[in-house]
Amino acid sequence: MQAEATARANIALIKYWGKRARALNLPAVGSLSITLDGLATQTAVRFDAALETDRVVLNGREDEAAAGRVSRFLDLLRERAGVKTRVEVISHNNFPTAAGLASSASGFAALAAAAATALKLDLSPEALSVLARQGSGSAARSIFGGFVEWHRGERDDGADSFAEVLAPREHWPLQVVIAITETAPKGTGSTDGMTQTEFTSPYFDAWVDGQEADLADARAAILSRDFEKLADVAEFSCLKMHASALAARPGVIYWNGATLEAMHTVRTLRSGGMQVFFTIDAGPQLKAICEPAAAPSVRDALAAVPGVREVIVTGLGEGVTTRSSE
Ligand code: DP6
Repeated sequence: MQAEATARANIALIKYWGKRARALNLPAVGSLSITLDGLATQTAVRFDAALETDRVVLNGREDEAAAGRVSRFLDLLRERAGVKTRVEVISHNNFPTAAGLASSASGFAALAAAAATALKLDLSPEALSVLARQGSGSAARSIFGGFVEWHRGERDDGADSFAEVLAPREHWPLQVVIAITETAPKGTGSTDGMTQTEFTSPYFDAWVDGQEADLADARAAILSRDFEKLADVAEFSCLKMHASALAARPGVIYWNGATLEAMHTVRTLRSGGMQVFFTIDAGPQLKAICEPAAAPSVRDALAAVPGVREVIVTGLGEGVTTRSSE
């Protein structure tokens, strides 16, 4: 009962922010993302009757803080498989975990796939997405590669809230330049930030109301490879998400000075004719999405922004891959 899986991080172009039900991680809105090639989590699981508790090793270190969330998640799979066996989970990220680079998305997608394979659950990709969602919402999207849409769904049991491929990565081989402006762990995690926004921000309802129109614009822009249109709607979604969080009480501020400088740098490049736009998740790193020809200039411009510590360039990635080892 052991298996290994690799899943990649994703970044949302139309954001997930807010939940319609907390226990099952059901989103208040649908969202749309790209899966990244260069940021991967590799996870090995081994169910072992001799273990008394679940054991979680992250990047070479036993992690008791992560073990609670991982155990609760694995209980969902154990329940389905009708077993109580404890498990050892060994997981590596090839990128800085604390830097707010969506490690929970790739982490729970890899864990869901590895554990389902080890338990021989034989789940469809949609069912795996539903499962990964319960570990971390954005993990629902990392099951798939390329351009991915996660449906809000209507049902209370969450069976219709899964992700699927909108277009494969070959459809439009965009590049992503990630500007790391801070390596310390973030102050407010995404789960807490969205809860605070939902309960206290006067802009939260407006955020939810605009989502269907943004999703429709983004889908059309991606399917017709219309860069200007995608740039416009993706920056709109990102800034609206952050505006709703900034208007919470107390306000949730994810940016630092370098994040803001990097935003201006991207806007300056775009007004000079370069095909590039930015997006920012629940942390201070900026991700610039660009056409391949623009990537070297975008990388150099972002590396020169004071406060940018490191720049990572990557393309679009594939969905989760699994190997079972008897
Ligand atoms: C800002 O998936 O980390 O990155 O479901 O509570 O685990 P939980 O939240 P998480 O939230 C991601 C929020 C975001 C936007 C996005 O990825 O769509």
